[in-house]
Amino acid sequence: MAKLPTQFLVCSFFLLLALHSFSVRSQEVEDESEFDYGANSTKGPARWGEIHAEWGACSNGTMQSPIDMSNERVNIVSHLGRLKKSYKPSNATLRNRGHDMMLRWEDEAGAIEINGTEYVLHQCHWHSPSEHTINGRRYDLELHMVHESEDGKVAVIGIMYKTGRPDSFLSSLMDHLEAITDITDGERAVGVIDPRHIKFGSRKYYRYIGSLTVPPCTENVVWSIVRKVRTVTREQMSLLRVAVHDDSDTNARPLQSINNRPIQLYRPDDKEEN
Ligand SMILES: *[C@@H]1O[C@H](CO)[C@@H](O)[C@H](O)[C@H]1NC(C)=O
Ligand SMILES: *[C@@H]1O[C@H](CO)[C@@H](O)[C@H](O)[C@H]1NC(C)=O
Ligand SMILES: *[C@@H]1O[C@H](CO)[C@@H](O)[C@H](O)[C@H]1NC(C)=O
Ligand SMILES: *[C@@H]1O[C@H](CO)[C@@H](O)[C@H](O)[C@H]1NC(C)=O
Repeated sequence: MAKLPTQFLVCSFFLLLALHSFSVRSQEVEDESEFDYGANSTKGPARWGEIHAEWGACSNGTMQSPIDMSNERVNIVSHLGRLKKSYKPSNATLRNRGHDMMLRWEDEAGAIEINGTEYVLHQCHWHSPSEHTINGRRYDLELHMVHESEDGKVAVIGIMYKTGRPDSFLSSLMDHLEAITDITDGERAVGVIDPRHIKFGSRKYYRYIGSLTVPPCTENVVWSIVRKVRTVTREQMSLLRVAVHDDSDTNARPLQSINNRPIQLYRPDDKEEN
């Protein structure tokens, strides 16, 4: 009498465990050879949705990213509130994924809270040129900080950069980046990295609901794009760009249809904001 339920419980436990690790790992594809950024490539952005059935959203999703954030579409609001960050230093590894460089935190690196939900920081990576555009303008680089809630919802913070003064966070990673650029699929432990050193520079941010910008292009991603465009040096950019081993010399997905999605720009009520 007692035996069956126990076996059932044990089975359910392992099934849940398997499902959980699957959901975490399936968020972003890490094998560079499966897709690329070539405009006319059979593995290029226009064909991503045909490569695997699970990547269908890349072709026929209706809430895809990136998008252009033009003034005419943006509603300025104050009710979204500041991004509530509670990041902390944690051990990290740097990984050359072939299509980008990714910094992954191995332990608890803290979280952001959006509308009462906590999203834990997992990794950040860079796209060049930028994927999102503001009033049609594309910038040189875009950082994505990828967070996930306990029930598998994804929230990404995007920060855009143009050429100029060095970015201090990237400066602190330069030696590690140089050491890893020549290795495809290389991974390097980089010790304790403090996500609080990633500078936002403004409390203003755009908010819309979109998708991952790489396969499987999973939708319902909560995007927060920092309004302030920051700077990086050419050297810092080229170091990140070397990671892109395909011929297209870019790892930015083309703009996707907005499909009448609302875009909000959070601006604090108080006057202290620049
Ligand atoms: C892609 O194909 C189009 C049309 O055949 C051509 O005009 C364009 O130059 C090609 N682009 C690249 C990057 O090869
Ligand atoms: C489009 O979406 C539907 C429903 O999710 C799916 O069944 C279909 O296979 C998708 N088409 C492609 C080309 O991925
Ligand atoms: C980082 O890893 C080292 C070696 O495993 C360990 O001693 C240290 O406590 C870790 N630091 C943090 C902040 O997790
Ligand atoms: C915020 O959370 C509340 C309660 O869970 C929900 O009703 C509301 O739709 C959410 N708002 C946004 C913008 O997600």
